[in-house]
Amino acid sequence: MTFRQLGRSGIQVSAIGFGAWAIGGPFTSGGKPAGWGEVDDDESVAAIHRALDLGITFFDTADVYGTGHSERVLRRALAGRRDDVVIATKFGNVFDAETRTVTGRDISPGHVRRACRASLDRLGTDRIDLYQLHVGDAPLDRVDDLIATLEELVDGGLIRAYGWSTDDPERAAAFAKGPHCAAVQHELSVLRDAPAMLAVCDTHDLASVNRGPLAMGLLSGKYGPQSRLPGNDVRGDSPAWMTLFRDGRPAPEFLSMMEAIRDILTSGGRTLAQGALGWLLARSARTLPIPGIRTAAQAEENAGALRHGPLSAADLAQIDDLLQRPS
Ligand SMILES: NC(=O)c1ccc[n+]([C@@H]2O[C@H](COP(=O)([O-])OP(=O)(O)OC[C@H]3O[C@@H](n4cnc5c(N)ncnc54)[C@H](OP(=O)(O)O)[C@@H]3O)[C@@H](O)[C@H]2O)c1
Repeated sequence: MTFRQLGRSGIQVSAIGFGAWAIGGPFTSGGKPAGWGEVDDDESVAAIHRALDLGITFFDTADVYGTGHSERVLRRALAGRRDDVVIATKFGNVFDAETRTVTGRDISPGHVRRACRASLDRLGTDRIDLYQLHVGDAPLDRVDDLIATLEELVDGGLIRAYGWSTDDPERAAAFAKGPHCAAVQHELSVLRDAPAMLAVCDTHDLASVNRGPLAMGLLSGKYGPQSRLPGNDVRGDSPAWMTLFRDGRPAPEFLSMMEAIRDILTSGGRTLAQGALGWLLARSARTLPIPGIRTAAQAEENAGALRHGPLSAADLAQIDDLLQRPS
């Protein structure tokens, strides 16, 4: 397994991580599904164990995934292995675990401290390696307060580093003022480049933790124009922010982009998913793709991307050309 640095924290992580949103199981937000449908916890634990066996050491979750369930499943699967792994989780959402619903947001210092303790309890650990603000559009004028609170948590030994999950480069740069800010989590895939965010990561020595690296499953190639995702899946009954899936089906414009570059992604014996992850590894030395993984087979395929390594510079240039974007 190839390792990369978690930005300026000096923490080493496997170059491909494990996204743990889906394994949290069903929950809702604003009356819509916010999970990925039903899950079998034994299958999730087997997926985590397979990932560990293959050298994946970086696990990304959030307190809100399955309203606490994802963190608990990680605790179960990582028992006895805590010192071998790097755990990232997130805060900023308020939820009701009884009804499995998201009820609001809170980024006040008191909530951040309480949320941190609650995540530590659910994860069964004494420290969180990377603690991420999960409110992507939180106001910039709250940044100083947030940094002060997070630095307190670092001083108390409860967290080692922190970051913001946001797609806004200005917000990422503002957070980078914090001495222990080490990463920004943002959307990045071969279908959706983010050059401005990667530039912020270079300037401030931050890791670029990549969510949606497989375009929410599209880049596995298993969904076509006729596929319909179930109604209890966030992709099946999409919230307003969703563009990759529309009316429960893959958005045709993204399927066309995928078809245009399929041959390049699958060159050298890679599967489509491995090619998509290879693009991310080639895009910058700071990228850390965290594909969502639900099964041991998905763990094997995604970890296998490292065997093939990054795509070549020529592949990247050709992809930009085919997708008509600047190199
Ligand atoms: N705001 C935020 O902070 C935020 C937002 C989004 C995501 N994230 C994080 O980023 C992680 C990854 O993003 P994502 O879950 O949105 O999307 P993704 O990684 O692009 O896609 C993951 C989905 O693709 C399918 N898949 C994965 N590997 C596969 C393989 N080898 N073959 C076939 N199918 C495969 C699985 O779903 P199916 O089998 O059901 O298709 C999986 O749940 C999340 O788990 C979470 O940790 C954070």
